[in-house]
Amino acid sequence: MEKTMKLEIFRYRPDQENQPTFQTYDIPFKRDWVILDAINYIKDQIDGTVSYRWSCRMGVCGSCGMMVNGVPKLTCATFLKEYYPDKVKVEPLAGFPVQRDLVIVMDDFINKLKSIKPWIIRMEGEEKPIEEGEYIQTPAELAEYKQYSMCINCMLCYAACPVYVLDTTFVGPAAIALAQRYNFDSRDQGRDERQEIIASHEGIWECTFVGECSMVCPKAVDPAGAIQRAKVSSTVDWYKEMLLPWGRKKK
Ligand code: FES
Repeated sequence: MEKTMKLEIFRYRPDQENQPTFQTYDIPFKRDWVILDAINYIKDQIDGTVSYRWSCRMGVCGSCGMMVNGVPKLTCATFLKEYYPDKVKVEPLAGFPVQRDLVIVMDDFINKLKSIKPWIIRMEGEEKPIEEGEYIQTPAELAEYKQYSMCINCMLCYAACPVYVLDTTFVGPAAIALAQRYNFDSRDQGRDERQEIIASHEGIWECTFVGECSMVCPKAVDPAGAIQRAKVSSTVDWYKEMLLPWGRKKK
């Protein structure tokens, strides 16, 4: 006889109901199925009204993030066998407004990414003429920021962050890690511009170093580490400013 298990899915359709509910579905248990396979099965075979996001099904696009039994996960990389035979509860990512069922509103996250200017900034007059070719970078210089460039914008780190979930003004883990991706790039000169956001009241000092963002990151970006490094460099900046009136040299 085919093994089955239960998937409990958060339902919210604002055009039809005021309050969210949960709906439980019986699904076949297959050892090689991930949670996303099970939701796709429900959508195709049982209830076509369930709404959710996904695309690549291989942990690359970052769109299938959901809370699985209260923990932020990429549902395309989380196997049913980790939970069988228990019931699995699937909810939208914590901390974000819900648009419909498992679909969250991403606007706040996208605006935060944009706010830290995630591109190479060169000071005026310091851009290389095109005919001089590309900016050469050594493997060691690449290694400085490569880890922070692996982010897939899945937002699991925001859903895991107790600061962001309580206060969404916090710039947040992925955006700060992305800022560090450029700050540590040998071709970039835009750190001062990013500092206005990173060292603001809503920036790095809001982080209480719980570290859950790094625990749930599916790409080992370590946003918590990126934030602590930004705290150290911002503190060094502050000391340099403080010492200037006493005639110490700013490096
Ligand atoms: Fe693309 Fe899961 S569907 S990361």
